[in-house]
Amino acid sequence: MTTITAAITAVGAYVPEFVLSNQVLETMVDTNDEWITTRTGIKERRLLKEKGKGTSFMAIKAAQDLIAKANINPEEIDLVIMATTTPDMPVASTGVYVASQIGAINAFSYDLQAACSSFLYGMSSAAAYIQSGRYKKVLLIGADKMSSIIDYTDRATCIIFGDGAGAVLFEPNYEGLGLQDEILKSDGIGREYLKIDAGGSILPPSIETVENRQHFVFQDGKTVFKYAVSGMADVSAKIMERNNLTKDDVNWLIAHQANKRIIDATANRMELDEEKVLVNIHRYGNTTSATLPLLLHDFEDKLKKGDNLIFAAFGGGFTWGSIYLKWAYNKQ
Ligand SMILES: CC(C)(COP(=O)(O)OP(=O)(O)OC[C@H]1O[C@@H](n2cnc3c(N)ncnc32)[C@H](O)[C@@H]1OP(=O)(O)O)[C@@H](O)C(=O)NCCC(=O)NCCS
Repeated sequence: MTTITAAITAVGAYVPEFVLSNQVLETMVDTNDEWITTRTGIKERRLLKEKGKGTSFMAIKAAQDLIAKANINPEEIDLVIMATTTPDMPVASTGVYVASQIGAINAFSYDLQAACSSFLYGMSSAAAYIQSGRYKKVLLIGADKMSSIIDYTDRATCIIFGDGAGAVLFEPNYEGLGLQDEILKSDGIGREYLKIDAGGSILPPSIETVENRQHFVFQDGKTVFKYAVSGMADVSAKIMERNNLTKDDVNWLIAHQANKRIIDATANRMELDEEKVLVNIHRYGNTTSATLPLLLHDFEDKLKKGDNLIFAAFGGGFTWGSIYLKWAYNKQ
């Protein structure tokens, strides 16, 4: 029997037009371009400003970009996994709406939430459905409207995050390409350090929670940074080791874009040359579920069939992990 592996066969993306630069942030909070650039690597981020538009707006655009480029019939999609931390609404799955809007009328859909690791975990889920032989086309979308949960008076968080969306299609592969191995982790210790206090079942929305600004992201940056550096570097080094990959065997590091210093620390542990480390944090900031597919989209030209990609992410919860994937196509 031929082994089925799960390969990424197409990529799409969307970012909003509005650009929030470090220079504009300087006029909003007590910060400066030099601090932001040296501490994070971010120069600008995109924000979805139009009233009444949520995460689904960007997710639909990214999926439509993929469908047009890959020339696929959306009716053939079996499943749409929507990785997001900022669903359109607390109840009513965003993915279900997105699937209907893109014409994936034969698909079922659900949302997957694991903060900044949502897309990485989604890759594992999508691949498992394909490897099992159960489904043939799984669309994985990562999209977040972080501007909807960020306090633009808090300089500790508002400089970091941006909005965006990316999508990939997983399909069966019979040449051994696609997802090879994964190490996924989580640890509830992280709940104290990166969270939104109110709006959930512990502390439902009230006038007090709004007045106390408890519906915005709180982050203890220093602590998260420490865990992110060791977490991402550990699993990335380990996945190389257990697949007998040397630094020369790895073609590309596709790391979550939260902080350039975290990406560099991970690359250093893997002993990778700088040119193998894909980076676009300077353009978008941290787009949470969208960072990994946005990298694939922006650097799709460079990726060649058979290339060894290591994905790595770290997020709230804590959630983190690494995936080893062999790229399956050359861009036409
Ligand atoms: C948030 C982050 C960029 C802050 O960088 P840092 O080097 O840890 O900075 P600190 O929080 O220690 O602050 C250092 C100083 O800069 C100041 N500072 C914080 N934000 C600032 C800003 N936007 N502009 C200027 N100064 C700022 C602090 O007040 C502090 O001043 P002090 O020394 O006088 O007290 C960094 O901690 C980080 O990236 N954390 C992890 C983010 C992450 O991965 N999150 C998501 C996981 S998905």
